[in-house]
Amino acid sequence: MAPSALPALLLLLATAATAAVIPEPTRTVSLPDVALQRPHVTRAPIMFDGDRSYYAIDKRNVLSDIASGVDSVAKSWGSVLGTDLPSFFTEGIPNWFQDLPTGSEVLSRLGVDDDSLASKPTEVLNIPPYANWTDRGWNVRFHGNVYKIPDIEQKKVDELANIFLIDTKIEDLPQDQQEQARNLTRSIFIVQQGERNVSFHLEPSPLQGASGQPGGNPASTPQNGSEEVRFPYETTSQGDFDAFVQIQNISGSGLLAGNETETVQRLNVYTNGTLTGNATAYLVPPKGITFISDIDDILRVTKIYQPKEGLLNSFARAFTPWMNMPEIYANWSQSLPDSTHFHYLTTTPEQVTRNYMDFIFKTYPGGSFDTRPLNFSDVQATLSIRKFLLTKVFETYPERKFVLVADTSNSDVMKAYPELAHDYPNQVQCILLRNTSATDAENWFPYDTSGFEGLNNKSYMFFKVPDDLRNLDISGGHCLNETIPQNVTFSRQAETFGDKNAAQSLQGSASFGLFAALMASVFLLL
Ligand SMILES: *[C@@H]1O[C@H](CO)[C@@H](O)[C@H](O)[C@H]1NC(C)=O
Ligand SMILES: *[C@@H]1O[C@H](CO)[C@@H](O)[C@H](O)[C@H]1NC(C)=O
Ligand SMILES: *[C@@H]1O[C@H](CO)[C@@H](O)[C@H](O)[C@H]1NC(C)=O
Ligand SMILES: *[C@@H]1O[C@H](CO)[C@@H](O)[C@H](O)[C@H]1NC(C)=O
Ligand SMILES: *[C@@H]1O[C@H](CO)[C@@H](O)[C@H](O)[C@H]1NC(C)=O
Ligand SMILES: *[C@@H]1O[C@H](CO)[C@@H](O)[C@H](O)[C@H]1NC(C)=O
Ligand SMILES: *[C@@H]1O[C@H](CO)[C@@H](O)[C@H](O)[C@H]1NC(C)=O
Ligand SMILES: *[C@@H]1O[C@H](CO)[C@@H](O)[C@H](O)[C@H]1NC(C)=O
Ligand SMILES: *[C@@H]1O[C@H](CO)[C@@H](O)[C@H](O)[C@H]1NC(C)=O
Ligand SMILES: *[C@@H]1O[C@H](CO)[C@@H](O)[C@H](O)[C@H]1NC(C)=O
Ligand SMILES: *[C@@H]1O[C@H](CO)[C@@H](O)[C@H](O)[C@H]1NC(C)=O
Ligand SMILES: *[C@@H]1O[C@H](CO)[C@@H](O)[C@H](O)[C@H]1NC(C)=O
Repeated sequence: MAPSALPALLLLLATAATAAVIPEPTRTVSLPDVALQRPHVTRAPIMFDGDRSYYAIDKRNVLSDIASGVDSVAKSWGSVLGTDLPSFFTEGIPNWFQDLPTGSEVLSRLGVDDDSLASKPTEVLNIPPYANWTDRGWNVRFHGNVYKIPDIEQKKVDELANIFLIDTKIEDLPQDQQEQARNLTRSIFIVQQGERNVSFHLEPSPLQGASGQPGGNPASTPQNGSEEVRFPYETTSQGDFDAFVQIQNISGSGLLAGNETETVQRLNVYTNGTLTGNATAYLVPPKGITFISDIDDILRVTKIYQPKEGLLNSFARAFTPWMNMPEIYANWSQSLPDSTHFHYLTTTPEQVTRNYMDFIFKTYPGGSFDTRPLNFSDVQATLSIRKFLLTKVFETYPERKFVLVADTSNSDVMKAYPELAHDYPNQVQCILLRNTSATDAENWFPYDTSGFEGLNNKSYMFFKVPDDLRNLDISGGHCLNETIPQNVTFSRQAETFGDKNAAQSLQGSASFGLFAALMASVFLLL
């Protein structure tokens, strides 16, 4: 087995273990589009069922388990899969925060009873909304989640946190990392509240900057006036709310009509009944440039392709900006016109959104947000969520231009970004992709550039460091820094293997086949 395959295997285990924490008898895993049938051959010798895989992680003897099982797995699966590998693998990395427990699963897993939960305050995750201008006024997309945080004793929290860590335990981490890991674990084990009404109080945002932080985007603040908005529907059974709502023009509010201003306007949104549901709403004029940016491995260091690091970077360590990317964004925010809007779109699960927002608003220009709603949880939906959210933004602003930013390690990005450029040719101004495969030897996952065929080759760029993005004429649509060699083959590629067509030959290679086999076995056995 290639040495680099090892951490990737752990990724699988992490995924499997995370999913296995909560036994969920009725779950069906829908597999992506490849012809991947439940095989009639002997089952793979590695079992990932319920508590056992969790126990295996805990015992830390997983690697030897795998080592002893690997050969037969490869053999039994090779014949089933041939060289036609599942797309969730060949096109990138699945998100390991898949299938986090929700609502009643959390309750039953933790043994929390309804009475003790009833006494807990209702909290609301209010995800910073964007709004468009329509002939009936401003139309704001309120979205978020209503939930309660159950009492979980620290011992249990630590036990749960350990599931998310590889080769280490929470008590072995430095104090600040322990706190972060406990915070995240508590954020995941929350109980969502269905059939609730939510309402908001809107006010002009008194502070400049990103959600009140300094260094924000070029938005103006309406002077005065406030209003109450009732969200028109109850929350879904998973506690989510997500719909556009028309807001009123309160006399004296100073709120400008979308066709009378070229500036993004900001409103503070407070959720009735809780202090946890504050957010900034961005009223975005019909014309201008919107940056839509992914977060992991482009705005922050995640190393999602190195599971052990990725999990530590997500669960324990403070979020860290990727190189001098904040400077590049700050320059765009300051030098582009006031109509410029920033939207952060990540497919990380809703439960960890607060930590992402907290980091972004301290580090990057303020802007609206999208994360993965709870009803997108199976593998198929996970791969379609990005396109779904992106399309929603595009449909909301038919006259705006978009700059799409991410890195190559997300298969859904590699598909959705060029698809949007084909579908909305006048709206995608630039696609800027950090090639993690070219800069990080540990990222041996291939990426697929076939979607870029037929696009104007000045409208996208694969880059290696933030400085490559300096001095680009974004407004003019010149998104390619001519000094950066582009290696686009319009096929599956992987720099790590030394040549750009490596991924093709790689299909037959032993380590690749083995890995895919394991991957498939994990998914089928879940
Ligand atoms: C802006 O739109 C509103 C509503 O459609 C319309 O009443 C108003 O005349 C428009 N103003 C301008 C300057 O076009
Ligand atoms: C975790 O930290 C975030 C960001 O600092 C904070 O907003 C959130 O309330 C904390 N969550 C819990 C469950 O303590
Ligand atoms: C939510 O509001 C609607 C309309 O006012 C009302 O009919 C419904 O009973 C409310 N639901 C709850 C759970 O309070
Ligand atoms: C929000 O709460 C305040 C005070 O509790 C109340 O006056 C207001 O009507 C509520 N707003 C909505 C839309 O329910
Ligand atoms: C709102 O602010 C404007 C100036 O921006 C002022 O003329 C108006 O009187 C204010 N209205 C209220 C209700 O304070
Ligand atoms: C609100 O009303 C004022 C005065 O009637 C008008 O100048 C302004 O354009 C309106 N704003 C919106 C958002 O409709
Ligand atoms: C939300 O806003 C209210 C009112 O300004 C404030 O008291 C509260 O502390 C804020 N909540 C958070 C979590 O910042
Ligand atoms: C999830 O819910 C949203 C509305 O909140 C809906 O538009 C979407 O189609 C749902 N997605 C799935 C996969 O059920
Ligand atoms: C505003 O956004 C909604 C929701 O995406 C969309 O249906 C509508 O067409 C948009 N309106 C305009 C004028 O762009
Ligand atoms: C292009 O390929 C060369 C040679 O393999 C490599 O050094 C470089 O990092 C690649 N550039 C990008 C942007 O992927
Ligand atoms: C292109 O990339 C190089 C190297 O990172 C950088 O020095 C330069 O400023 C970038 N921009 C342009 C327009 O050349
Ligand atoms: C800052 O952004 C502007 C507008 O895109 C661009 O013209 C300028 O060259 C940028 N400066 C740097 C140092 O990237």
